[in-house]
Amino acid sequence: MAVVLGIESSCDETAAALVDGERRILAQRIASQEAAHAPYGGVVPEIAARAHAERLAPLIEATLADAGMSLADCDAIAATAGPGLIGGVIVGLVTAKALAMASEKPLIAINHLEGHALSPRLADPALEFPYALLLVSGGHCQILRVEGVGQYQRLATTIDDALGEAFDKTAKILGLGYPGGPAVEALARQGDPQAVPLPRPLKGSRDPHFSFAGLKSAVLRAHESGEYADADIAASFQQAAIECIADRLNRALGKMDEVTALVVAGGVAANRPIRDALKSIAAKHGLQFVAPPQALCTDNAAMIAWAGIERLGQSDPLDTLARPRWPL
Ligand code: KG4
Ligand code: ZN
Repeated sequence: MAVVLGIESSCDETAAALVDGERRILAQRIASQEAAHAPYGGVVPEIAARAHAERLAPLIEATLADAGMSLADCDAIAATAGPGLIGGVIVGLVTAKALAMASEKPLIAINHLEGHALSPRLADPALEFPYALLLVSGGHCQILRVEGVGQYQRLATTIDDALGEAFDKTAKILGLGYPGGPAVEALARQGDPQAVPLPRPLKGSRDPHFSFAGLKSAVLRAHESGEYADADIAASFQQAAIECIADRLNRALGKMDEVTALVVAGGVAANRPIRDALKSIAAKHGLQFVAPPQALCTDNAAMIAWAGIERLGQSDPLDTLARPRWPL
């Protein structure tokens, strides 16, 4: 049975995992840096890189120990090689290179976005290519047609902010702290989603792209006006976001042939009202709706190890570069 060690360090989670060819997560550890970045209201790249450098090696050692395994039991070392905050990506990739060299195992450089895109297959063996993927996180906001390993058609991206970023900025405006998504969702439950008039950027436009910068500015203006309760702002923001997603996704799905399912991935997939909206969009298009378990939706190393399993046989050179930008 093939086993891959996966390493993730592209943002603010330091993570390692061991996954086998039967979709079993043999062990995984995640060290979150949330507390280190919270005082700044967002991820500080320098702090992130230093934290990865400090924590990654012992974390990998502990992950191997959890599974009672050593590097000799692994068939490959897979690590995120981008896109992401470059300092962190370098820490993970260089560590993977050293481990691959020392253990004489192949290095597999993984695109973090591919990790997200393939993660639903780790959770659901029945999920067949091609499927439609909505990837919504703090750094990414895309609609993809996932056709196979390494085969992705990107139908939409954001022209400014990612959806998670819009949640985080709204949280900051409302003084809710970082990360903002869960706090905005919680506050929105107490508010009226129709109370504050907010724009639905790009709604109705021909290409299914996203834009959230204008929505964020409108949230700021609404807050500064002093006319609205914070809960109403949160609820109205979330409602506007949902309507944007629905409109953009309906447009994209209309352009996609033969997909088997609508899959959501990325940290924003945790949002309950967004999930409910996606469920009904999927139903409307006659598609199965797949949402991987939350631990697989947010940044994690199991998805990187799984992408390594899917790419087994590949061996990347030791001079492979870490890439801050790397479109799928
Ligand atoms: O995938 P992820 O863990 O990291 C990357 O950005 O790659 O996603 C984190 C993002 C943050 O922007 C966070 O605010 C958002 O996902 N998020 C949420 C919720 N939980 C996390 N956004 C809305 N509602 C939530 N419940
Ligand atoms: Zn991510």
